[in-house]
Amino acid sequence: MPQVKAPIVTYSGINQKVEFKDPDATLLDCSIINQIPHMHECGGSGQCTTCRVRILEGLQNITPRTRMEKETAQLRKWDPSIRLACQCYVKDDITIQRLVWNSTEINKLQLETLPEGTAEERAIAILFCDIRGFTKIASENKTFDTAYILNRFYTVLGDPILINNGVIYQYVGDEIIGLFGVSGGMQNKNCKDAVRAALGMQYAIERLNRLELIDFDTEIKMGIGINFGRAFVGHLGHPKHKQFAVVGDPINTASRIQGFNKEAGTNLLISESVHKGFPKNTLNLGKKYSNQMEGHEHETILYELIGFKEMDIQLELQNSLDYLLRNEDEFAEKFYNKVFTKSPQTRELFKNNMQSQGRLLTHMLGGIVYSMSRPEFLELGLKSLGKSHARYGVMEEHYPVVLESLKETIKEELGELFTERIGKAWEQALIDVTTEMKKYASIK
Ligand code: HEM
Ligand code: FES
Repeated sequence: MPQVKAPIVTYSGINQKVEFKDPDATLLDCSIINQIPHMHECGGSGQCTTCRVRILEGLQNITPRTRMEKETAQLRKWDPSIRLACQCYVKDDITIQRLVWNSTEINKLQLETLPEGTAEERAIAILFCDIRGFTKIASENKTFDTAYILNRFYTVLGDPILINNGVIYQYVGDEIIGLFGVSGGMQNKNCKDAVRAALGMQYAIERLNRLELIDFDTEIKMGIGINFGRAFVGHLGHPKHKQFAVVGDPINTASRIQGFNKEAGTNLLISESVHKGFPKNTLNLGKKYSNQMEGHEHETILYELIGFKEMDIQLELQNSLDYLLRNEDEFAEKFYNKVFTKSPQTRELFKNNMQSQGRLLTHMLGGIVYSMSRPEFLELGLKSLGKSHARYGVMEEHYPVVLESLKETIKEELGELFTERIGKAWEQALIDVTTEMKKYASIK
């Protein structure tokens, strides 16, 4: 019998070629098996579209679109070369480009399903954030790299919006606008995402002041206003240059709420409609204001927001994640050393290069924190991760070892930033993750 040659998959960008040995594996499985980072938020069930690739060569060499993939492609107006890696099988050589790389890009995907040329009414939470004190830094520090620090602001303030399922609508001067729920969602979820983002932004600025701006003899302050309401959302503009736009009274009101911070001497204000999005007694509130906004005949009720009453696991994880993974390789090395000391027999389960393995793990931890704001995908993702671990020979008894080692590494890596609250939040999240994965493991 002549030997059948395995198809070759070439990943453009990293220019890596891998053999596609298992005919039952999907193109996404091929990336995972070969440890090539490939987003797959829903765990390969064809729902999130983050595994999308462009087939640069050999489109005829993969299986045709499934019914579900056809529907997705139609809705998003994809040309035939864009495919969902988790839905296609490879018959012969192909060259592909992965299209989604990080959380910023995932958030852009929300905008794809919005109408072109018309606008649809959607119930969204709108967050206006104004940075104060930046101009002082820029003018007083002539030698100081203003562009660098401006980018740091945009990153630390933009991340909490993105990680909480929001989209960054605009950066205007010293102002950032975030929207939550542009592609749908319930009032309580959209409001909670926006409030968590605001609290994350406050934490990020405090840390920036304390750790990075300490030498500049100035303190950056912020004012944030959040409103919830129905606004028109769509891609509007010149036929040749359509842009994502939101229009409506709730947007202007959100901007005015933000502006009212100065008058009230507050940092974070929410409207009554945001407040209504939360169950009773779950928010820690300060003063209450009744204010007539410009252009309104009625009074608008505003509340000063201090935080959540109970610990919010996601907020604690989000606030510690970037610091925790600032040196991914160091984190992974410490972690695996602990695992192999506690349970030496697990060493032989690992066949691949430990550095790339470490990166996959830390990448996955970040992904887990990120997809906690999309629980429907998180569950599917963990199911797929649990199944792949069963294939690697991971047993139920290994999970407590990994859990303990992760907890210890997190505590050590966070150092002085570690608090009991953060420790508890990570512990709870890791228990949830490993409990879900463990369901698919074998018992000795
Ligand atoms: C919090 C729980 C865990 C997470 C988030 C996690 C994450 C990951 C990730 C992202 C990969 C890369 C491949 C893939 O995506 O399937 C991986 C591979 C692997 N993990 Fe885990 N893992 C966890 C628990 C464990 C446990 C309890 C063990 C047991 C010792 C284990 C052993 C392995 C092995 C053996 C591989 C394959 C490595 C190779 O082929 O060289 N993992 N893990
Ligand atoms: S659609 Fe393929 S991983 Fe979600």
